[in-house]
Amino acid sequence: MTSDSSGTVAASRFVQAVAGEIQDVPPIWCMRQAGRYQDSYQALRRHHSFDALCREPDLAARVALNAVEELDFDAAILFSDLLFPLDALGLPVSYDDGGPKLARRLDEDGLDTLRDVDAAMAALAFQAAAVAETRAHLPGDRGLIGFIGGPWTLFVYAMEGTHTGTLTRAKTSLPLYRRFAAHLVPLLERMARAQLHAGADLVMVFDTAAGELSPAAFQQFVAPDLARLASALPQQLGYYARGLHPAHLDETGVQAIGPWAGLGLDWRWNLAETLASPARRGFVQGNLDPSLLHLSGGALTRALDEFLDPIARLSPAERRGWICGLGHGVLQGTPPASVKTFVQTVRKRLA
Ligand code: CP3
Repeated sequence: MTSDSSGTVAASRFVQAVAGEIQDVPPIWCMRQAGRYQDSYQALRRHHSFDALCREPDLAARVALNAVEELDFDAAILFSDLLFPLDALGLPVSYDDGGPKLARRLDEDGLDTLRDVDAAMAALAFQAAAVAETRAHLPGDRGLIGFIGGPWTLFVYAMEGTHTGTLTRAKTSLPLYRRFAAHLVPLLERMARAQLHAGADLVMVFDTAAGELSPAAFQQFVAPDLARLASALPQQLGYYARGLHPAHLDETGVQAIGPWAGLGLDWRWNLAETLASPARRGFVQGNLDPSLLHLSGGALTRALDEFLDPIARLSPAERRGWICGLGHGVLQGTPPASVKTFVQTVRKRLA
């Protein structure tokens, strides 16, 4: 929130977009906007492990705020990781330069040894503390996003130790998914609630691996858990799954499976068509292909023009609720200057 000279409090551009207000210039935010592509992040990592950066609220806030200060994003996102709830439930996760490592995999027997939700929640208090610390130092004209992992993606990690590949072990254990999710979803709900209470404007549910499921399996197994989450916190959660297909949803979009505030799209979706669909409800976030930010100069300008041309042809009313960003996260090795060009070009083009 910001106050003008008359003392009126104005919502950030991000909060206005989530509320569906008509805007010329959309807010811009990217998943993984804070991380290894930034020199300031590399400098902090020389002194602190990734785990420490996440668990110490002042460090987590510093990392989240550096991204906003250096790249001028409209929103900060909690600096943390998707997998901490697995660790808190008793499936230990560690991080090295190759990414996350799980000490053991979930199986039928492992279900009985999971920690209860109260104990897990106590072990995750650092996340809400990081949200509060980030909010305390965030300029009032910027939004703040919390996040949790989606239940299917966390199950996949617990079963496979990764979220890529064929996911055969996870996909052939759907009854086990049901039992694990019955334990996990109440924890996810409490994590989201704690982040909102600590000052997040919106909590994103990153369910990266859910697009790997057939529409039928998604509807039968995952959608009921998603509906439970959305109904617990109506209009306060957004959903994103990489590889989600229109067939996973219906013409109303993610609202077919609960009172979601909106949906993040990967780069495969036709953004302009989705935005302009009369059936659409809620915000739409996305969706430049993150690989294109490895371009620079004239090639980057051309790629951004191609991305923005169809959207610029829509009226501001048609594209209300658009939150500009990538179709997935910022990739390692992305030149920060290209991210800056992306942010500035969107603002210039749509002003
Ligand atoms: O968006 C942000 O700026 C907030 C930070 C954020 C991280 N992880 C930090 C991180 C977010 C939103 C996540 C979500 C996350 N984590 C997902 C969902 C999104 C996706 O990419 O699909 C997943 C699957 C994970 C699990 C995870 N954590 C992986 C696969 C890795 C290693 C690979 C990689 O991209 O670095 C991590 C580690 C991790 N999470 C790092 C960061 C900045 C790198 C840590 C380091 O070595 O310094």
